[in-house]
Amino acid sequence: MKKKLLAAILASTMVLGLTACGGQAAAPAAAPAAEAAPAEEAPAEEAKEEEAPAEEAPAEEATEEAAEPAAASGELINVGFAQVGHESDWRTASTKSCQDVFSEANGYNLSFVDCDNDSAAQLEAVRSFIEQDVDYIIIDPIVSTGWDTVLTECEDAGIPVIVIDRTIDDSDKYVSWVGSDFLTEGKAAGEWLKAYAAKQGISEINYLIIQGTTGSSAQIGRTDGFREIAKAEGWNELDAQTGDFTEAGGQEVMESFCKSYAGKFNVVICENDNEAFGAMTAMDNAGVKYGPGNDVILISYDACTAGLKEVQAGKITADFECNPLAAPTVEKVIQTLQSGGTPEAQILVPDNWYALKDQIVDFSVDGNKQSMTEVTDAVIEAQY
Ligand code: AHR
Repeated sequence: MKKKLLAAILASTMVLGLTACGGQAAAPAAAPAAEAAPAEEAPAEEAKEEEAPAEEAPAEEATEEAAEPAAASGELINVGFAQVGHESDWRTASTKSCQDVFSEANGYNLSFVDCDNDSAAQLEAVRSFIEQDVDYIIIDPIVSTGWDTVLTECEDAGIPVIVIDRTIDDSDKYVSWVGSDFLTEGKAAGEWLKAYAAKQGISEINYLIIQGTTGSSAQIGRTDGFREIAKAEGWNELDAQTGDFTEAGGQEVMESFCKSYAGKFNVVICENDNEAFGAMTAMDNAGVKYGPGNDVILISYDACTAGLKEVQAGKITADFECNPLAAPTVEKVIQTLQSGGTPEAQILVPDNWYALKDQIVDFSVDGNKQSMTEVTDAVIEAQY
């Protein structure tokens, strides 16, 4: 029963994916930038409501089996969540959001596995969920490849998989993906820097990148997006090394950069806030002055509360959000499946771009005009 229902779901989500991608194979891993909601056109709150149509999706693909939902009335729905780890403030917020949403009070029994950034452990976690015969599996993939075999096992077991945050690039055997557009985040950082450098009269950019976990879609998208602008502008990339999305990693890489490139760099891009915190410690220790009005422009991603505080303190010059609060949308996907409907194949969570007033400049991404949010006490208070 479960298997036939899953086959119907996968077939119908593939049809939706093909439609959404203009006739090309469904590619949720790399949602074309044109499909991404530009920050200014999708104010966070409105977009959050708009882009969660899952629960309203017509149950057009409902099958006979759908009359028997995974959990009968009154029973808890069993959900397994293979989480990346606990490397960052972002991750902590993502975990909390999932645990809050998939609580017993809300009708769920959540099996949560912190995979500690270990891809083998993550595959093992998914297989343990298959053994437990959970009703749904949520995966935040540490890296974007190596998934087809285990997702085939999920399919054979008739368990729908929902991918959250990072994408899977080598398999389409999942029902929905819910997350941010990392490529657009990277391009936004590049386009902002272009406009900001022009305003400041900075003619030469020599930049360093502290990358996220190698092979994660968050690292790939942000690096590729930024490099696309850098290449077009003729900026000079001095080096790029991974800090694994951790504060310790960011500090270690920046310590080595400070030694190798002393006096040679004027931009540091950290692919998340925790790396930026580590890089700040390293630059402080090396006597490098960074932030608005200083020698080095520090760019970061995530825009967690602690990151925005560093923007306010004049340390991080601009911070490009990655919204970790996808769990409510994932729940809507599950409820759609429970009622025999077909959720959307790709659901983008909107992001905003943050800076202090003087660092806010006009820029576009792929022709879409962006707007930035000024960091204030109220904005920090409202952030994750
Ligand atoms: O996949 C999202 C990224 O992973 C966030 O930017 C980072 O903080 C986390 O570790």
